[in-house]
Amino acid sequence: MSPSPNNTEITIIQPDDWHIHLRDGDALQTTVPHAADSFNRLICMPNLVPPVKTTEQAIGYRERIMQALQNSNISDDRKQSFDPRMVLYLTDNTKPEDIINAKKSGVVQAVKLYPAGATTNSADGVTDIKNCVQVIDEMQKQGIPLLVHGEVTHSHVDIFDREKKFLDEVLSPLIQQFPELKVVCEHITTADAAEFVLAQSNNVAATITPQHLLFNRNHMLVGGIKPHFYCLPILKRQTHQKTLIEVATSGSPKFFLGTDSAPHATHAKENACGCAGCYSASIALPLYASAFDAVGKIDKLEGFASLFGPKFYGLPVNESHITLVKTPMQVPNSYDYFDNSTITPLMAGEHLDWTIKAS
Ligand code: DOR
Ligand code: ZN
Repeated sequence: MSPSPNNTEITIIQPDDWHIHLRDGDALQTTVPHAADSFNRLICMPNLVPPVKTTEQAIGYRERIMQALQNSNISDDRKQSFDPRMVLYLTDNTKPEDIINAKKSGVVQAVKLYPAGATTNSADGVTDIKNCVQVIDEMQKQGIPLLVHGEVTHSHVDIFDREKKFLDEVLSPLIQQFPELKVVCEHITTADAAEFVLAQSNNVAATITPQHLLFNRNHMLVGGIKPHFYCLPILKRQTHQKTLIEVATSGSPKFFLGTDSAPHATHAKENACGCAGCYSASIALPLYASAFDAVGKIDKLEGFASLFGPKFYGLPVNESHITLVKTPMQVPNSYDYFDNSTITPLMAGEHLDWTIKAS
């Protein structure tokens, strides 16, 4: 990393996004170039309709993503570096053979656990982790990481307590049963989750989103409901936000970048029953830079964004670099999306302190 003397410019190794939703079909024309502008590798979440359950489906999905990249007008350099990595959607019916095929393919990087009903397109998810024991055993053998949406779904559990409950009741026993399994606690939102991850072996890590570093539930709920802050797991109280900032900027390799950028058309968010998800792919690096700089830790951004993810996944560090400058940028009010709709990004219309320097 090379910061300028007064920390107004920083050049870091090109980051990867270890958790992103690109969707499929015409949506890719918007989401793929936004992600490819900043990131080399992407962990592409499989909660499509229908979900990506087999290696064959994962290969087809990757081809559509690459086609959208080719059709976009991003630079040839960025096109060459772009490398989407695929994920299988775990169900009650996933078989150990599916894991063996996934490993052989070289295209599938991980398997995602969505507890059934926990979030967008999770209806086909796992109803009881006991149904997946043989599959998880095979994942441990094959060294395929389990990516976890860590929330219980019982209606009697308060939405703000669902992450902790999942860690205590589901993940903790699972890790004890499979100590060599690589696990990523995706988009952690609480101090409980941060402490949980720190207490585990190096096989357990976590991604953190920009919205959970920059905001808390007051931003979403005070002075009127702001649907563009609504995501799952939901924003928590400020004490949790503070702990997430502490661990993200601590230099611990257990915490790395995963935007959870989740495109939903503006009309689907600004709705009586609004969808969960914050769209950040296009502005994620300025958002993270602002969060790190706000606590005087811009020097810790490179580890979080570009080093710790590849280390966890056992992949090489990227060779290219990207420069961020402390020059205010205005976040667009919206982007064009398919079917004449728009997407509203996180912090639409507002100013960020950092921007990506044109190469
Ligand atoms: O807010 C979210 N949106 N959380 C998720 O877990 C899924 C995502 C989506 O796919 O829209
Ligand atoms: Zn997600």
